[in-house]
Amino acid sequence: MSAEIESVLHENRVFDPPAAFAKAARVGSMQAYTDMVARADKDYEGYWGDLAREHLTWSKPFTKVLNQDNPPFFKWFEGGELNVSANCLDRHLNSWRKNKAAIVWEGEPGDTRTLTYQELAHEVGRFANVLKGKGVTKGDRVVIYMPMVPELPIAMLACARIGATHSVVFGGFSAEALKDRILDAGAKILITADGGWRRGSAVALKVMVDDALKGCPEVSTAIVLKRTGQEVAMQEGRDVWWHDAIAGQSPKCDPVPVDPEHPLFILYTSGSTGKPKGVVHSSGGYLLGATTTMQWVFDIKDEDTYWCTADIGWVTGHSYIVYGPLACGATSVMYEGAPTTPHAGRLWEIVEKHSVNIFYTAPTAIRALVKLGDEWPHKFDLSSLRLLGTVGEPINPEAWMWYYKTIGGERCPIVDTWWQTETGMHMISPLPGATPIKPGSATLPVPGIFADVVDQEGNSLGPNQGGLLVIKRPWPSMIRNVYGDPQRYKDTYWGEFGGKYYFAGDGARKDEDGYFWIMGRVDDVINVSGHRLGTMEVESALVSHDQVAEAAVVGCPDDLKGEGIFAFVITKGDAKNDDALVKTLRDHVAKEIGPIAKPDHIKFTDALPKTRSGKIMRRLLRDIAAGRETRGDTSTLEDAGTLESLRKGE
Ligand code: WTA
Repeated sequence: MSAEIESVLHENRVFDPPAAFAKAARVGSMQAYTDMVARADKDYEGYWGDLAREHLTWSKPFTKVLNQDNPPFFKWFEGGELNVSANCLDRHLNSWRKNKAAIVWEGEPGDTRTLTYQELAHEVGRFANVLKGKGVTKGDRVVIYMPMVPELPIAMLACARIGATHSVVFGGFSAEALKDRILDAGAKILITADGGWRRGSAVALKVMVDDALKGCPEVSTAIVLKRTGQEVAMQEGRDVWWHDAIAGQSPKCDPVPVDPEHPLFILYTSGSTGKPKGVVHSSGGYLLGATTTMQWVFDIKDEDTYWCTADIGWVTGHSYIVYGPLACGATSVMYEGAPTTPHAGRLWEIVEKHSVNIFYTAPTAIRALVKLGDEWPHKFDLSSLRLLGTVGEPINPEAWMWYYKTIGGERCPIVDTWWQTETGMHMISPLPGATPIKPGSATLPVPGIFADVVDQEGNSLGPNQGGLLVIKRPWPSMIRNVYGDPQRYKDTYWGEFGGKYYFAGDGARKDEDGYFWIMGRVDDVINVSGHRLGTMEVESALVSHDQVAEAAVVGCPDDLKGEGIFAFVITKGDAKNDDALVKTLRDHVAKEIGPIAKPDHIKFTDALPKTRSGKIMRRLLRDIAAGRETRGDTSTLEDAGTLESLRKGE
């Protein structure tokens, strides 16, 4: 890995927070921001401890804010007890928020549902009783594989209520990927649906589940929500319908208090090597991170209608559709389907329909919407919007300007939020009432987070020097472990700088104002449409096909998705390297991992560039995939001829 990263981006525009916005904001000036940073710097534990007392409801107060006895296994809020679902529901029920909308849901076909805090609490109580009845107890893992319907957050909160640890698997993943995650998590119970609506058709989920469960003999129960009404096979003794299960259940279920370190959820994410990592998140620290950033970064107010377009199968949906908004007593909009169904203006139609005030989406979606033309946003009234956000990948300044002008009407600040599955909360982001924003920069760390850009030895770099992005102190919502593999947790995140700093694979630079500019991944992880995919996983999927001998996968530039997937494939002797095989292999990867992992390009080759020790030199393949000249050193290459022949075949 090289710490010398060339920066090519130069952007000089700056936009100050509008005065009226700043006046009403939770954090309304740079002075207020720097005061918070200074307090955190001087009294780190006092800072986070006060916030934890202010923002969370504890059934037993904690006695120690941060235990650093056994790094990197940090413990937050020792001695305390709380329940996450009680923080998201019960504490609002004794206030005027009881009948406030918690979730405003839009189905793709146009059906809608609104659940008040009271109604949501009852549904969660009923379903928690169902889980209890199935023998689920504190610490058990429950896998959830569902479309974007209200029952998904209901299932998550029901797990949290009884202290079970949920693991949501994105509904776009294949049966194989689902099986791997169920096995890794050791789950005995699965919550799913017949299917969900996507691009006008009923996408089957239960069929995938049936396939996956063939390899998961430990799963004794699958609870199946009827969403689309499509034909499904129900296995006697194992499968039960959601509606049958909740019939007659009491809406009341006492929340089980848990230790703040108790794992609230496991979420699988890609790393550069090996199988996906089960990122383990805590209860207390995680919820504090989600709650505070919901207020600082999204400036959430009781009168806001807030919409994050992510899927709950990713961390963004966990922190900023479910836990953050609900803990704050906010109204969170949730949409089931595709952004362009039934027409290219669907998102803007939903903004108009619900008078959405805060809108959070990914740069990949913004770029796709730019291409569809301005007539779509112009058809709808977007004047309710007051704040926009992005997440998942660097946003190019052109897309930023379009978002700012065409969607935000030049009136809404944009919060470009840098964070990760592992960080649980926003780490680097503008606070919209305080931070002057620059298109393409995630700006400054949120108060209480100490981020820096360093060289390979861990020395801070000067302005505009590209290097490695690190976090210098443990923070409340940080990853606690890789499920079942503490060594991997230590090596992956704390190995780079001898345990001193957290490092999760991004390159960055800080400009002369201390603003962070994220430069993307420095490891073998591809960021496709804001979703991390390990090249390793795509390679294993390709090699699992019986015509493939070897494969190497790298990212390549892609206008729409940010990065595309480029696969170099060596086939077996009898294979016919034609378009039909390309299609077969792409479909095969979709089946093994899911459609998002389908290679955009497949190039057949006889050999791959390797070092003498047999390591594939992906750096060289990246140059070829991007159509660039080979850059950097090729002296460790075993056979220089392979590069020649790879290029010739172009
Ligand atoms: C990238 C998503 C630039 C980054 C919440 C990170 C970003 C990875 C930004 C985490 C941003 C996320 N600007 N890059 N605002 N936000 N990234 O785990 O490479 O799915 O490491 O979490 O996405 O992706 P993950």
